[in-house]
Amino acid sequence: MDNRVREELIPEGIIEEVRLRTEIVEVISEYVSLQRKGKNFLGLCPFHTEKTPSFTVTPEKQMFYCFGCNTGGNVFSFLMKKENWTFIECVQRLAQRCGVVLPEKEMSPREREETRLRRRFEEINEWAANYYHNILLKSPEGEPGRRYFEKRGIDSETMNRFRLGYAPDRWDGLLDYLQTRGVQPQEVAEVGLALERGKSDKDKRQFYDRFRNRVLFSILDRRNQPIAFGGRVLDDSVPKYLNSPETAYFNKGHHLYGIHRAHQGIREEGYALLVEGYMDVIALQNAGYPNAVASLGTALTRDQANLIRRYTQRVVLLYDSDDAGIHAALRGGEILRDAGIQVEVLTLLGAKDPDEFLKNHGREQFHNLLQQAATFIEFKYRTLTHQQPPRSILEKAELVHKLAPDIIKVASPVEREGYERFLSLELGLTLEAVQREITSLGQKRHQKERFEEYSPQNPISSVKNRDNITNTIICKDVPAPPQPAVELGVYRAECTLLRLLVEDISLLNRIKETLGTSFWRDSAHQQIFDYLDQEGSVPTDSNEMIQSRLASLILEELDKSQTERLFADCTKNILAAQAEENVGDLQARMVALEKSGDMAGAMALLKEIGERLKRGK
Ligand code: UTP
Ligand code: MN
Repeated sequence: MDNRVREELIPEGIIEEVRLRTEIVEVISEYVSLQRKGKNFLGLCPFHTEKTPSFTVTPEKQMFYCFGCNTGGNVFSFLMKKENWTFIECVQRLAQRCGVVLPEKEMSPREREETRLRRRFEEINEWAANYYHNILLKSPEGEPGRRYFEKRGIDSETMNRFRLGYAPDRWDGLLDYLQTRGVQPQEVAEVGLALERGKSDKDKRQFYDRFRNRVLFSILDRRNQPIAFGGRVLDDSVPKYLNSPETAYFNKGHHLYGIHRAHQGIREEGYALLVEGYMDVIALQNAGYPNAVASLGTALTRDQANLIRRYTQRVVLLYDSDDAGIHAALRGGEILRDAGIQVEVLTLLGAKDPDEFLKNHGREQFHNLLQQAATFIEFKYRTLTHQQPPRSILEKAELVHKLAPDIIKVASPVEREGYERFLSLELGLTLEAVQREITSLGQKRHQKERFEEYSPQNPISSVKNRDNITNTIICKDVPAPPQPAVELGVYRAECTLLRLLVEDISLLNRIKETLGTSFWRDSAHQQIFDYLDQEGSVPTDSNEMIQSRLASLILEELDKSQTERLFADCTKNILAAQAEENVGDLQARMVALEKSGDMAGAMALLKEIGERLKRGK
């Protein structure tokens, strides 16, 4: 994001103008399919899961509101929540969209140079993409490229949609063309599209085109801006692909091929299809899967996982069925899972990759196959047992050990039991034995490690303070919250706080002072707390659920030297979550202010909401 504009320098009037020029229905339609209902529009809420629509957009007021989860606001709050943008980012994007020019802040000479270089980089890549594309479509020189793509069933519409190109078999095709546009060879080399011949003779520097006699895949970002290229040979020679090198403005680990279409497609479909190759993305998107993307010839990175996470929480991995593909799926699956994504894996049989599968078996068979995607854990199990099913008790135990770390990370107790059941059936062991084994493995693992795994992307402030509490936190092995509504970080904080209280009842007043008496989100915790509050001791005659919760609390080890720190961390955690919860109230107030015409007040609140959402991230 271009950060030329500083927050304090966007005058209120301009923000207001952006708001007036923006049609909320248009913006939200890019995320939600809306249907007109009288004066309003109705759709499925993008902020919670629902089957019947309760999300409304009112053009008259330029507001949205969900009756299911009580989220509401204007176009800015919608984007802040949906895209995780700051308020300023929202204004910038919308301004661009509706043609409002924002005042630029004074840039330092370095910033100015930075901006100039970035723009130049984009400009040169844009020209290059056009050059290669036109050769492929029109020039006699493009014949080999046309023949190649024709052989692979690529039509001209696809060539346009993906800005495919062909680099002629010349040393200076691009260099010459760019020179007519006033680009110096040196610059072409800097953006990675040309190389310099032996630099010995300083007076006569010589450059040559990086891509020659290759078909080219333009790597487009969300804005359709080409930022790099992948070039494939036309035959079997090596290297098969040549890619743009990494530069200050292109880092391949930050991008996904196909995202120019898929950023919408993933939202539409509700999940992403992650594949390996450029051609796979093209074949899938053409076959009605606009949600297909590929990492750029590298193992999947965390940045790429986070990029996907902006659009969805579910990914189907579709890697090649060879050993390398399986290995990549195992590794990629872990990275995605750690980014908070639910992973499924599809193994292709009878084809080496999705492109080939579609060609050989057609869309319908692919569609059927997709229904059979396995969960990541099941995939891992199948991979581990593929060569040799476990026979002896020892082998079975080893297998349980290998899968335990994955199963322990499953947040939903229902899902977790599903996996435990699956293992017990597969291995011919009792469910209890499998569960006991997994639980005991969980307990043996190092506390630090466990803590991190339980909060791969803990949205509460403790993430920043992770290191100071890693060795003191307790409650890592309590089962995941039985009420899915309670966020895991809060749940753990509550456990720990309750554990401290059970240990030292004198903390009762301090808790009440900081948090009140009815803040517990987990109802069992609330009940235990109420009892302690009234009776001064732990309940002994309560129901089974409460008893077992108490038991697991009391059994947890507690580092008594850390009481103060734990207490502080937990209350901070709970307070942070409360602050986040109040965003809904803030939004309601903002709506009221807007209605009463107090735009300045509403804007101030909006900023506050934005900051809170940001802080809570
Ligand atoms: P594949 O070898 O599976 O190629 O590489 P492909 O995409 O299926 O290509 P076709 O179907 O043979 O034409 C998968 C991806 O790995 C990267 C590319 O991004 C490619 O799409 N790759 C592969 C490279 O970057 N360099 C290479 O030499 C090979
Ligand atoms: Mn292929």
